[in-house]
Formats: sequence, structure tokens, C-alpha cells
Amino acid sequence: MKIVVIGASGLLGSVLVPKLELISNEVITLGWSASNHYRCDVGNRESINHTLDILKPIIIINLVALTDIDLCESDPRQAFKVNVQILENIVSWIETSSRICHLVQISTDHVYDGMGPHLESQVMLTNYYAFSKYAAELVALRVSATVLRTNFFGKSKRDKKVSFTDWIIKNIKDNEFFFLFNDVFFSPLSMETLAQMISIVITEKPQGVYNLGSREGLSKSAFALLFADKLNLESSNMKATSIDDVTFMKTYRPKDMRMDVTKFEKHLGVSLPTLEDEIDSVIDDYYETA
Ligand SMILES: NC(=O)c1ccc[n+]([C@@H]2O[C@H](COP(=O)([O-])OP(=O)(O)OC[C@H]3O[C@@H](n4cnc5c(N)ncnc54)[C@H](OP(=O)(O)O)[C@@H]3O)[C@@H](O)[C@H]2O)c1
Repeated sequence: MKIVVIGASGLLGSVLVPKLELISNEVITLGWSASNHYRCDVGNRESINHTLDILKPIIIINLVALTDIDLCESDPRQAFKVNVQILENIVSWIETSSRICHLVQISTDHVYDGMGPHLESQVMLTNYYAFSKYAAELVALRVSATVLRTNFFGKSKRDKKVSFTDWIIKNIKDNEFFFLFNDVFFSPLSMETLAQMISIVITEKPQGVYNLGSREGLSKSAFALLFADKLNLESSNMKATSIDDVTFMKTYRPKDMRMDVTKFEKHLGVSLPTLEDEIDSVIDDYYETA
């Protein structure tokens, strides 16, 4: 099973690729940086067509994204270019290819707002990052595709990429005052579990859009307190507050991104863990740092 992963040099890619290599000996990473097996300007249609013609994948996993929410808001053209047009190039190749190729597009829980947990149909787009990721979902669905709306945490394997849990640890250790929101809710998975679920997805190839997160989400402040508590870290420099009470957020962010994961569980025959289970699953990775 030849699998091409585009955007593999990021946070999720660095955990996902080793997991995929356990189930396939043909995992090829493709992207603009030297760390990839194949270097290619994925923003250039001719370049990506040429490379995919050579590689002939039967699965493409797209992880390329501009995830900086403020940057997406201030530079929507760039957000559209990275989050939508690169995928448009991939989808056009699949449409014109004579071979069958299934696409896995990683989307986000950011497409929701209002009271969760949300079903897949309850989209509410509130900023340009969400808009561009949702536009990408529509592009992906032109071909055989699984769109996974997700969020994740866990120890980064890339020096320059920082996950939410890395950020919490750094702030606690720097011993500076920092805020966490008690009215922003989410239901992420650990990157390990997410990678495991993506491995199942590429075998089963379910069609359409799926929420993929943990059960029983938490507020960001409750998550951080629980995480710090499990690591026996002193967290008195962490202040729980309402997102409405801070002025440093440039861009509107959704308050409740919790997802109803019933569809994924039913169609894939799996039982997803609770968020507390997921926190427990990453604690060992942080003992050394903490
Ligand atoms: N991080 C989160 O908490 C989170 C939450 C929910 C959903 N997601 C989604 O999960 C997916 C993976 O996220 P991630 O956190 O792993 O992202 P990431 O660490 O920012 O990595 C993104 C990847 O895209 C590549 N990339 C960015 N701009 C590019 C461009 N113009 N041309 C070619 N490649 C480009 C990056 O390459 P370089 O590293 O070489 O720049 C990197 O390989 C994304 O679809 C994201 O929307 C992420």
C-alpha cells in the first residue's frame, strides 16, 4: 500500500509517519522542506502532478496547513493558498489520474462554535482559519475521501513546533503568570491515538466527514490543571479566566469545539478514549521534561 504524506514535517506528521511505517513499507513524505523523501513545490500544480505521476500513491494524507489563526485572519490570501489551493492541486491530480487513490484530509474542530458536543452537520464558521479549513473539506469531498475533524496534543518531536501540552509545561516552568480559559471547551486526542485512528482509516477508507476526538471534553483550564496535577507540577502561575475578559486575542476563537464522535465510533467499530484517559497516555512522555 503506497502512502504519500504531504506536510509530514509538522507536529502531527512527525508522530503519524512512524506509525504508518508499521503497517506499510511504502510510506513516502512529500513537501517543500529537505526533511521529506521527495522535495516538491506542492503549491505548484505542475510540480505536484509530476511527482504524484511518478509515485502513484493509493493513499494520500494531506497535513499541509497554515494553522496560525491570527495570520490566517490578517492574510486570508495566504490562508487560502496553503489551506485550500494546495489541496485543490492534490484533488485535481486524483480526479485526472487513471488509478484509484483515497484522500485523507485533516480538518479541525475549529469549524464549530455554540454549545457542543457537535454533530458533523453543526458547522459554524467564525474566523478565516475555520473558513479556509471548511472550504478545503468541500474540495476534498469531490473525490474518494475521509475528512477528519480533529484536535490533538502531546509531546512534539519537532524542535520548532509546540503543542498545547508543550506550551503548558513551558509556561509552568518559566514561572510566569499565564492565562487559560475556563469557558473554551475542546475534546482533543493525543497525537499517538490520532495516528492510530488514521492507520485504521486508511485501511477502511470511510467516505465523508468524521469528528475524531476524545469523549467527555474539558475546558482548556481544567485540562491544564489536570495535566499539571498528574505531573505533580506546581501550577499557581496559571490563571483560569474567561476568554471574554482578555484583550490580547486578536482573532475571535470558538468557545465550544467539543465533538460528538459517535459516527466515527460506529462506522469504524472503535471506542474512543475519554480526554482524561488521553492525558494519562502522554504523561510518561513529559516526566523527563517536567
Ligand atoms: N496543531 C493543532 O493543534 C491542530 C488542531 C486541529 C487540527 N489541526 C490540523 O492538523 C493538520 C496538521 O497540523 P500540524 O499542527 O501538524 O501542522 P504544522 O505543524 O503547522 O505542519 C504543517 C505542515 O504543512 C507544511 N506547510 C505549511 N505551509 C506550507 C506551504 N506553503 N507549502 C508547503 N507546505 C507547507 C509544513 O511544512 P514546514 O514544516 O516545512 O513549514 C508542515 O509540514 C492540519 O491540517 C491542521 O489544520 C491541527
